[in-house]
Amino acid sequence: MNSVDQDIVHGLEGVMVCGTRLSHYDGPNGTFVLRGGADIRDVAGRMSFEDVIEHLWPDPDASFSKGSPGVAHRLHECSQLTPAAVDLLARTPVDGDAIDVLKAALAVDALEKSSSRDLSVNGAFELTAGLATAAARLARRRAGQPPVEPRPGLGFAANFLYMSTGAPPDDRQVRCLETYLVVMAEHGLNPSTFSACVTASTGSDLCSAVVAAMGTLKGPAHGGAVGEAWAMVNDAMSGSAEQVVRGRLAANRLLPGFGHREYRVYDPRAKIFRDLCRTENPAYFRTAQEIEAVALPQLAERGVGRTISVNVDFYAGGVLAAAGIAPELFTSCFAMARIVGWCAHALEYVDSGGRLISPTSKWLG
Ligand SMILES: CC(C)(COP(=O)(O)OP(=O)(O)OC[C@H]1O[C@@H](n2cnc3c(N)ncnc32)[C@H](O)[C@@H]1OP(=O)(O)O)[C@@H](O)C(=O)NCCC(=O)NCCS
Repeated sequence: MNSVDQDIVHGLEGVMVCGTRLSHYDGPNGTFVLRGGADIRDVAGRMSFEDVIEHLWPDPDASFSKGSPGVAHRLHECSQLTPAAVDLLARTPVDGDAIDVLKAALAVDALEKSSSRDLSVNGAFELTAGLATAAARLARRRAGQPPVEPRPGLGFAANFLYMSTGAPPDDRQVRCLETYLVVMAEHGLNPSTFSACVTASTGSDLCSAVVAAMGTLKGPAHGGAVGEAWAMVNDAMSGSAEQVVRGRLAANRLLPGFGHREYRVYDPRAKIFRDLCRTENPAYFRTAQEIEAVALPQLAERGVGRTISVNVDFYAGGVLAAAGIAPELFTSCFAMARIVGWCAHALEYVDSGGRLISPTSKWLG
């Protein structure tokens, strides 16, 4: 470490910028709990996505009191896009990056909604429901199919699959997507959630906070890793795990789906997805296991000074593929889940004082 480094916390590692009641991870021990101490291993498979929203978002007008049907109803009420957003989705280049298209669609959609003007739970419903409708329209357009309108009475995950395919989804696909959305909905002050909080701290609106977070999520070190990990596993299916892992490391390329800023042991969320892949996507599971067996000793041998284990994105692609999601929409599904945490943290940060987040840099001359 040189003298400049003594004053700089690279990557803000370990820096606490606020308090939260929304969730907590214990990196060294590999545990993760939501508000009130709900262990993610118990939450997955037991709570619906709507339940997680109810658990994490503030309820200023007590409209969640009917339980998750109240949340489901509000999501459904907010699921229509404005004509301007529909028009934009029909005109953007069909092979454009999905997150870029969805950022633009949400921003245009919000122009005529409350989420473009304030920071409120109403805006969170508009953005969460609108993002799913927009992502489903994008999936339809990429498949050369006409859009499918949201269907009342279906849960959020089932409705997304229905809007994406036009057919009633089977229970196993719904279970895969629901588990994915529940597990990914919240994870502390990760980079995209921090982006949302920075934007909210300036007094900006909730749509701007979400769009900023989406741009941050897109990077391969964050939400972009799920597609890259899926591609690596697929490369190993058609070649060999040994070749793929050694080839990437020899070329000084990171292994997607490995490493985490906080977890120094197996990511607890990755275990949930690994176990789901074992039954729902056995081919992915087998090859991913082969990669793990080669990669973990290789990473340890490289002496990078830290334990690098499997992170949540390694098996996530196997779960999403089993749900019937196309790989180019994997990161969009991540956004559809994590928007819950983005909104929850932005609202919590502002409600608890919300001082402007404005760090500083060292003058290097
Ligand atoms: C997640 C990630 C960004 C964490 O970054 P970080 O906290 O800055 O990483 P660390 O400080 O733990 O890295 C320590 C060392 O391990 C190496 N390392 C970390 N992850 C690695 C990986 N997946 N493959 C190979 N080497 C890796 C780093 O290059 C670094 O080596 P160096 O000191 O020689 O530069 C990083 O592990 C990564 O890019 N992983 C792959 C992408 C991914 O899966 N992202 C999703 C995260 S949930």
